[in-house]
Amino acid sequence: MTLLESVRSETLREGSIPVLETKRLKMRAPRHGDVKAVATLANDRRIAENSARIPHPYGADDAAQWIASVNAQLNDHAGETAFVITLADGTLIGACGFGLLREGAPEIGYWLGSAYWGQGYATEAVHAVIDYAFDDCGHDALQAGARVTNPASRRVLEKCGFQWTGVGLYRIRALNSSAPIDRFRLDRGLWSSLKAWGMARRVV
Ligand SMILES: CC(C)(COP(=O)(O)OP(=O)(O)OC[C@H]1O[C@@H](n2cnc3c(N)ncnc32)[C@H](O)[C@@H]1OP(=O)(O)O)[C@@H](O)C(=O)NCCC(=O)NCCS
Repeated sequence: MTLLESVRSETLREGSIPVLETKRLKMRAPRHGDVKAVATLANDRRIAENSARIPHPYGADDAAQWIASVNAQLNDHAGETAFVITLADGTLIGACGFGLLREGAPEIGYWLGSAYWGQGYATEAVHAVIDYAFDDCGHDALQAGARVTNPASRRVLEKCGFQWTGVGLYRIRALNSSAPIDRFRLDRGLWSSLKAWGMARRVV
């Protein structure tokens, strides 16, 4: 690594959270200056009702509380690791992260503002966050849950290699009740194999 590369990668980090770059997206730690954009995008019943913990309505106080609470205790794998998802021009379009919310492996979660749905952005962002969770954080597996009425989220998980493990009930804060969910799991070994296979296919 050259001195320039070393300086650049340090500059790109905010606290202990790196900037993840994909073909079209950048993911970085949320900042206080993101409150307005996060609150505007996340104040959408379709997002809240498909997420476990996002309230509806969702205001600036909710966004500020989320930003202040994430990325706090990363050394022992506790707490929630969160990124905001931005386009190359810096426009904030959503969020993605993972944390030990339930028993077992860390659980991955994500949402996008509705104007950005249907363009492959969630899949692209989740891919990068999975890489980070396995390669940088050393997790051996990730889990996820998608409401049975949420085929788009299910498809994102399937495109990222997650395997269906069964059904369950999650408490949905915005519904003030529980709802059936499909549960998914991705092990590090399967992810590595899928990536190697994808790379082999691109080479051919
Ligand atoms: C779920 C969500 C993140 C998807 O974001 P996105 O950027 O549109 O997702 P992608 O474009 O990467 O992939 C969506 C896939 O679902 C498919 N899809 C979308 N709506 C669908 C439907 N009603 N039925 C079946 N498949 C559907 C798309 O065709 C695409 O699959 P493809 O690439 O094979 O065609 C977004 O809709 C969202 O934020 N929803 C509200 C919050 C949420 O559900 N979060 C997930 C919590 S588990």
